Amino acid sequence: MLEIIPGILEKTWEEAEKKIEMLSPFAKVMHIDLLDGKFAPNTTFLDPKPFKKYSKDIFFELHMMVEEPVQYLKPFADAGFRRFLGHVEKMSDQAEFVAQGQLLGEVGLAIDGKTTIDDIKVPYDDLDCLLVMTINAGFSGQQFMPKHLEKVKALRSKIQNQFFPIEVDGGVNDLTIVQAKNAGANRFVATSFLFGQENPQKQFQALSHRIAV
Ligand code: DX5
Ligand code: ZN
Repeated sequence: MLEIIPGILEKTWEEAEKKIEMLSPFAKVMHIDLLDGKFAPNTTFLDPKPFKKYSKDIFFELHMMVEEPVQYLKPFADAGFRRFLGHVEKMSDQAEFVAQGQLLGEVGLAIDGKTTIDDIKVPYDDLDCLLVMTINAGFSGQQFMPKHLEKVKALRSKIQNQFFPIEVDGGVNDLTIVQAKNAGANRFVATSFLFGQENPQKQFQALSHRIAV
């Protein structure tokens, strides 16, 4: 299954909520970006509590671009988040993150632009999904870096289950989504492509259309 997941990267709850409301008529899964200013020079709204209002109806995945993401698992799970994607770069114990995450929902590891797939130290079988950045993490609106699709290709050829979710995040638009799909990705996060135009639903449909078989 191919899935487009709208992303939300906001500094305040008011902005995040506005986007949730815009997306909720057509998207039931949303990707919430978490940045602590230590992983990359940017920060987002870090309080999980207000998300609770929406987490019964919306499947929230948390993209954890933070130092020691393990510490955020429980508070966000308590607010109803169901999938946790932790970056390996500032994670001291991948096995521990995965073990804790499994108790709370789906868990995956994420690799940033400069990181290689050899930096993933946990067996793929222990993960629910993987995320490969197609930019350097930190900001929306950057340009897609096609060279990172080599990592998607390599992972796809190593992992036996052909349906295993490999997500790409960063610079996804109506052209790059096709390249990412051809490399073997099956989940696609998009933020500025959806919100850069007046009608996010139309933009979402344009993306779906591009990857429809
Ligand atoms: C960047 C975030 C991405 C980003 C995607 O660090 O993880 O999810 O918001 O934004 P676009 O789709 O605009 O590249
Ligand atoms: Zn993200």
